[in-house]
Amino acid sequence: MSILESIKSVRNSFRADIDSFPTDPREIESLRTKYFGRKGSLAKLYSTLAELPVSEKPTAGQHINSLKNELQGEFDSKASQSKSDEKGKEELFDLSLPGIPFKCGSVHPLQQTLDEIKSIFKSVGFKATYGPEIEDDYHNFEALNIPKHHPARDMQDTFFVTDNMVLRTHTSNVQIHLMENREPPLRYIVPGRVYRNEAVSYKSYCLFHQIEGLYVDKHVSMADLKGIIDYFVKRFFGENTKMRFRPSYFPFTEPSAEVDIWDKKRGKWMEILGCGMVDPNVFDNVGYDSSVWHGYAFGMGIERMTMLKYGIDDIRLFYQNDVRFLEQF
Ligand code: DAH
Repeated sequence: MSILESIKSVRNSFRADIDSFPTDPREIESLRTKYFGRKGSLAKLYSTLAELPVSEKPTAGQHINSLKNELQGEFDSKASQSKSDEKGKEELFDLSLPGIPFKCGSVHPLQQTLDEIKSIFKSVGFKATYGPEIEDDYHNFEALNIPKHHPARDMQDTFFVTDNMVLRTHTSNVQIHLMENREPPLRYIVPGRVYRNEAVSYKSYCLFHQIEGLYVDKHVSMADLKGIIDYFVKRFFGENTKMRFRPSYFPFTEPSAEVDIWDKKRGKWMEILGCGMVDPNVFDNVGYDSSVWHGYAFGMGIERMTMLKYGIDDIRLFYQNDVRFLEQF
């Protein structure tokens, strides 16, 4: 094949190739290499120059040069055309369209209440601590002045693990652990899960959460107890919440009281917690001198607080994980 024929054949093959110019950048690159690469068609043409008689070299060289310029020009314009086409496609996206929303999790309402109650008590000097959920009879009942066969045991239907071990029925067990292990003065809140063997209904569940409070010092009085509960209720339920102390009975406090708040929606008093001055018998059980040390204690249900605050009327909602319920908080 003469050099002129070779030039023609490269031109024809190039024409055919760029007629269907690729859009994929990798294919564009391989097309570039095919013609302009080190081992491409043009390079091959240049290498045949060497074999030509000297007299033919200049014209043949000119032909190849002009072919090269021609192909390069066409290739570049096709390549830049293809780039701007791609860009055009991108611009078809409407950036102002709203995105596809995806659902985030949120903090469970019980955890929100717990966090809030904790921060209220922390602001007035209480530390948080925790205790066991599987408990012996002594810490759950006996040491809290609830001996065997005491009718108060019937107030809390108990899950027994063995004859002597129970799932704690309240967080009051941690009062005993705290005082057994630490010297007074003490000021703690104790959040935790508690268990009761009760029929499940809108108002009771086999497990729920409580927060216990315990303050022991030399000059603690019922007035301090009232002060702290009043402060708590106003911060948690709102400044204008009406509250009352109602005399009650718990074996581990003397005197004991229950606290109610006025529920405007229901139009009646709703109990929110139990409390009282630590019974001297309890101090005796943990080896605190009850002629020196005095204390108050209180216990409240976290589910109950959440239900009252947000007007929820079925405790089971907290455990069903229904997103329609949970995402309201
Ligand atoms: N433990 C009681 C209950 O679960 C609540 C309670 C009442 C706790 C009075 C206290 C208290 O610390 O002083 O029903």
